[in-house]
Amino acid sequence: MNRKRVAVLISGRGSNMAALIKAAQDPAFPAEIALVASNRPDAGGLAIARDAGIETEAIDHTRFGKDRPAFERALQDVLEAHRIELVCLAGFMRLLSPGFVETWQNRMLNIHPALLPAFKGLDTHRRALDAGAKVHGATVHFVVPEMDAGPIIMQGAVKVYADDTEAALADRVLAVEHRIYPLALQLVAQGRVEVADGHCLIDGQRVPEAGQLSPTED
Ligand code: GAR
Repeated sequence: MNRKRVAVLISGRGSNMAALIKAAQDPAFPAEIALVASNRPDAGGLAIARDAGIETEAIDHTRFGKDRPAFERALQDVLEAHRIELVCLAGFMRLLSPGFVETWQNRMLNIHPALLPAFKGLDTHRRALDAGAKVHGATVHFVVPEMDAGPIIMQGAVKVYADDTEAALADRVLAVEHRIYPLALQLVAQGRVEVADGHCLIDGQRVPEAGQLSPTED
């Protein structure tokens, strides 16, 4: 099997990255994590990746000041040097320019801690509670120039409970993130996802069960 070479881009603790690494440790998984790169040299996830025997790169964005194109050129050089075919953003907290995003069109995934298009941006769990949302969750989508938009590959939902706190809700959503990101990457790496009219089809289907993780009855 020709496993796709994947780079995971992180800025922090890297728990989603760790979930992807774990999934890819199965030789039957159709992708290998060939690189973990961070814009923050002190990102906790870099040590986790190194311990797992994965190559890491730190591209400190502060060295580039306001020169975003230079930062992105450095990032692109690193991705090319490692012959990367797919990119997974996993808590990567830098906006990427339209040019960079277009270079990776339909080959760059992101995970967002909400059921998009609800609650784009930050503080998603607080805002879901404030809005009185009854279900909440996480989304894996292809990256487009607009932030937290782009064709949805997979969503996972959790129930919101009457006595929920932001931390408790965040924990339950994170557990779902760790399930759906490997599943979504698997589908993409297997070539089962196509984008048509701005929507993802999985195995040719517009609302495929493979793209849904529903809250369980408990
Ligand atoms: C995750 O919850 C991810 O969904 C979120 O940051 C966290 C990173 O955690 N991403 C965003 O908010 C992107 N807009 P992790 O480093 O443990 O994976």
